[in-house]
Amino acid sequence: MKFLILNGPNLNLLGLREPDIYGCQTYQDLADRIQAEAARLGVEVTLRQSNHEGALVDDIQAAYGTYDGIVINPAAYTHTSVALLDALKAVAIPAVEVHISDVSQREDFRKISYVRSACIATIAGHGFDGYLEAMGLLKEHLSHCKED
Ligand code: DQA
Repeated sequence: MKFLILNGPNLNLLGLREPDIYGCQTYQDLADRIQAEAARLGVEVTLRQSNHEGALVDDIQAAYGTYDGIVINPAAYTHTSVALLDALKAVAIPAVEVHISDVSQREDFRKISYVRSACIATIAGHGFDGYLEAMGLLKEHLSHCKED
């Protein structure tokens, strides 16, 4: 089972950016935790981060035929990007939306998610654990699909 873990703009600055909201741990710390969880779950993961909307669309398109699941934190593009929504719908790979912070408790514009309707679940406000939960959820979802 192969998962693509996709992170959007400014998530490369974890640890530096607004630590009161996103914590003190870095993107590398997140990557290490994801790799450790992948080993525990017995799944393969590829991590990608981009500050560019089109690059994220390219990554989603390229996932078709290669990845069984996508964990996506589109960051600010969550609240603006029809292109990411369309890409997720086009490839129809089961995807889970993750946000480190609890977007429902922040500014009104963060309450809108364009990608949500293309995802099987949204996990927000669980910090880095949200990515690990998303991986577990995807694995469970895909195992159920295989039984059908
Ligand atoms: C975020 C929340 C977004 O609103 C914000 O633009 C981000 C990070 C989160 O992980 O909490 O960059 O997706």
